[in-house]
Amino acid sequence: MNVFEELTQIQAEFQKDLKLALDLEQLDHLKIKYIGRSGVVTTLLRSISSVKKEDRPKFGSKANQLKSEISGLIAEKIDVFKNDTDLRKAENLDVTLPGRTPVIGSLHPTTQIVQEICDIFVSLGFSVIEGPEIEFDKYNFEMLNIPKGHPARDMWSTMWIENPNHSNTNSTLLRTHTSPMQARFMEATSPPIRIVVPGKCYRYEATDSTHEWHFYQIEGLVVDKGINFANLKGTLYEFAKRIFGNDRKVRFRCDYFPFVEPGVDMSISNFKDSEGKRPIKGRDEDWIEILGAGMVHPEVLKGVGYDPDIYTGFAFGMGPERISMLRDGIDDIRHFYSNDLRFLSQFV
Ligand code: PHE
Repeated sequence: MNVFEELTQIQAEFQKDLKLALDLEQLDHLKIKYIGRSGVVTTLLRSISSVKKEDRPKFGSKANQLKSEISGLIAEKIDVFKNDTDLRKAENLDVTLPGRTPVIGSLHPTTQIVQEICDIFVSLGFSVIEGPEIEFDKYNFEMLNIPKGHPARDMWSTMWIENPNHSNTNSTLLRTHTSPMQARFMEATSPPIRIVVPGKCYRYEATDSTHEWHFYQIEGLVVDKGINFANLKGTLYEFAKRIFGNDRKVRFRCDYFPFVEPGVDMSISNFKDSEGKRPIKGRDEDWIEILGAGMVHPEVLKGVGYDPDIYTGFAFGMGPERISMLRDGIDDIRHFYSNDLRFLSQFV
């Protein structure tokens, strides 16, 4: 068989092979087999030196022609296959299948509980207001009946802030509670007052499962003529029932906060049911404290220019994360600020 016959044979073989190629991968193999670096056409071309001198130009051009023919035919079929897979994909598309639900975010669990608590108070006639997180000693302490050097300051481990506008280095701080808004709001308005103040607070404290160095509080303040302790009890009892359910009892005990007199803390009942189970998961006491409260101290009223013989009021402060922990069975307050999606996604 001379080289020209060999070329014809290769061409015929390639035609057969091409018909049998069923996918892109097989086409790739064909390319290697025929026109790859050691493909049959390429190898034949390399043997040109053994071809008779006069036949060389003709052989060379025929072989190169075959090479480009093969490469063209393979490229054509690659195109066909590519379109075909697109087509097949389109045919497999079942438009009646339900769509994939996109993953959507949701409000942060702290935001959710803050809003829920605020909504309760709004429905009781309160307004929601907010105040600064960077606060002056004056509002955070002094106007709340906690003068400089007062031992009660130790109740709030404070993060102080360097303030270039004040020579007194102990004048600016990250608020340790939302109570400064009591003084700010009373100073700026006159009674009747019925507000709740949600906001972030900061304390210079080590963290553990029930303490964060930053957390939310919700402050409440009511001031008017004739406000009394029964109003405080009624309001907070209603709140506790709405959050924890109608079966819950509340208990008030004396407590001390310099800006209220008398001061109390309020607990909710956690008695065992007939099967010996507690309504609040993970807590083995009969009563669980949820907030501090009291009648606004006459000194505080005087400090903002109110006459305590005419006006009286009550105030309360609670930690919304702690309330969510109790109600929703969360074991560690640090979950709220660790941004772990396994925790956050439970609140979607
Ligand atoms: N501000 C107090 C605290 O952080 C809570 C409180 C608010 C107590 C209002 C009484 C009245 O501990």
